[in-house]
Amino acid sequence: MSFPPSQHVRVAGVGAYLPERVVTNEELSASLDTSHEWILSHTGIHQRHLAAPGESASSMGLLAARRALEDAHLLPGDLAMVIVTTSTADYASYPSTAAIIQGNLGAVNAGAFDLNAACAGFAYGVAMGKCYCQAQGRPVLVVASEVNSRILDWHDRGTCVLFGDGAGAVVLAPSSRPGMLHEVLGADGTGAGYLVREAGLRTPEDILRPPGFVRMDGRAVFQFAVRAMENVIRRLLSETGHGLEDIQHFIPHQANGRILDAVARNMGLAPERFFRNIQHVANTSSASIPIALAELRRQGALKQGDLILTVAFGAGLVYGGSLLRWEAEG
Ligand code: UT7
Repeated sequence: MSFPPSQHVRVAGVGAYLPERVVTNEELSASLDTSHEWILSHTGIHQRHLAAPGESASSMGLLAARRALEDAHLLPGDLAMVIVTTSTADYASYPSTAAIIQGNLGAVNAGAFDLNAACAGFAYGVAMGKCYCQAQGRPVLVVASEVNSRILDWHDRGTCVLFGDGAGAVVLAPSSRPGMLHEVLGADGTGAGYLVREAGLRTPEDILRPPGFVRMDGRAVFQFAVRAMENVIRRLLSETGHGLEDIQHFIPHQANGRILDAVARNMGLAPERFFRNIQHVANTSSASIPIALAELRRQGALKQGDLILTVAFGAGLVYGGSLLRWEAEG
């Protein structure tokens, strides 16, 4: 069967999965030199979900993927591609987490690959997914799944309190009306050293080292994040001829409530215009935007024709975002 290329692409389905176990700030304070007050006042986080020993990026991503397909009223066999964004893949090199999800899902007509753009992975994933969906005229699944708890140093209070685990997914489908309106992606690799997971194969000896943890210059990342998010929002709006007032839902990467406050202040926006669920999920890296989108969808907050602006930044340093129109029907 051949499929004509599609001019337009929409988000046809959304799903998310959060692990059952919830860890509060108070619980962390019992074994770490920190406090609920410090974590809340510096980040806005109350609690995070942490994966069970038997869970992984592929198992959580599979559950989110099934929910997104159900929401889209599509079957695994309809998919042309499975893209997984993760910094915490099941295997360090291969097989890709996407291939594992594709197999477990039974997406027998789909290709599969992983994409790593750290916390901005979802922005990159949907931009790539849109292109393939357009070219093939068939749906594409983008899954963002992160088991951050496995790469954190639980003795480092500067990083371990910030993150949580979880997965989110969207199905992108050909559409008669424009849903995915515009994407912006960018990078500043000169800041690569500010946020690093100390594991890899830069030298032959590295294979003998234990898998490393996340290390971060929090202040430098904070300053970059505020600049990058403002830049992405302004570009998405100016390149599509929209104004701040046209947007019904701003869905930013949930890294730190204070970053969102600073971006809002710089742009003259009320802070509550940015959707926030960081208080109960913390920073779930690339999964944060689809988890937020699924939460809004579950609440019935996404209405036909709503404009949604997503914006993210992450290690690399990289950044990106997209402007969507919520099209409930293709
Ligand atoms: O998606 C990727 C993302 N990463 C980020 O978005 C991180 C961006 N950066 C941040 O969110 C903030 O920089 C942090 C929340 C990480 C830190 O906040 P800060 O206001 O920049 O604090 P700081 O690193 O300058 O540390 C201030 C103090 C230090 O103590 P001293 O040296 O002043 O005595 C830290 O040791 O706070 C201390 N501190 C803590 N105290 C209690 C750092 N972490 C903690 C903690 N509990 N968990």
